[in-house]
Amino acid sequence: MIVIASSNGSIGMDAAWQILAAGGSALDAVEAATRLVEDNPADHSVGYGGYPNLLGQVELDASIMDGTSLRAGTVGALRGYRYAISVARRVMDELPHVMLVGEGAARFAAELGMAAEDLLTPEAAETWRAGIEGRDMIDWAGIPELVSALLKRSAGLTSDPEHVTGTVNFIAQDNAGRIASAVSTSGWAWKYPGRLGDSPIIGAGNYADDRFGAAACTGWGEAAIRASTARSVVLYLKCGRTLAEAAHEAFDDLRPIMRGTNNAMNLVAIDRAGNHVSLTTADDERTYVFRRDGMANYDELPRTLVAME
Ligand code: GLY
Repeated sequence: MIVIASSNGSIGMDAAWQILAAGGSALDAVEAATRLVEDNPADHSVGYGGYPNLLGQVELDASIMDGTSLRAGTVGALRGYRYAISVARRVMDELPHVMLVGEGAARFAAELGMAAEDLLTPEAAETWRAGIEGRDMIDWAGIPELVSALLKRSAGLTSDPEHVTGTVNFIAQDNAGRIASAVSTSGWAWKYPGRLGDSPIIGAGNYADDRFGAAACTGWGEAAIRASTARSVVLYLKCGRTLAEAAHEAFDDLRPIMRGTNNAMNLVAIDRAGNHVSLTTADDERTYVFRRDGMANYDELPRTLVAME
């Protein structure tokens, strides 16, 4: 049994482990752990308390993947429901679709009986207001040039979601060898409304396949989309690379995209044999959390730095 997560997932590690230790599934473990991060108002990158888009609306992205069946469920730009990961799980379990976005995702959450609420906390709202201070909060709606100018300005402040905030990754392998992965985020703070990052894109921010392994990303989602980073790790495993080689090769694929930017990319991954790896392009001592059989608790470990210059 294994659980690996981005460092902000530490709050969910015990819950994940208890499910695995009781013989539960990797899918249930990653969903339950992610919900605890979505509940945490102090984490401004995920769920309730997440930083909003340019209009002050919290829009959540999430995905979950079952490495046994290769089924997946995702939601994008979901407003008003904190447990984006559970909506994604129900998309996977109950619909003949993989992805729902915006109003359709919220409608589905309502049909499931999930509780609607305002996800913007006073603290997140205050930070958002400070980020666009000096602007008329009412009059600019519908003025695209001003929205674009604000976006460019705010992008300078928050171009690296993990540095300012985060996104959470969980990957687990259960007693039966089943692998599942989950990703949840409020995305790039002050993003353009409707922007989707890599978190709800299967193959970009999330991929799992029992036969080989799984990978999940945090950081600059646009880059992981353009390089299909999570799927690339698993594909390189299929091609016979070791886990470390596969992860580094996927990061090599990011070089033309990342070079010369101030953005960061971060990865956690496992292979089917239980090896694990975590890479980052940021040199600010980022960490991840990990637990496997025989460990009394999870460890917080440094990510391996990969320079993009
Ligand atoms: N990696 C999260 C995002 O870009 O939204």
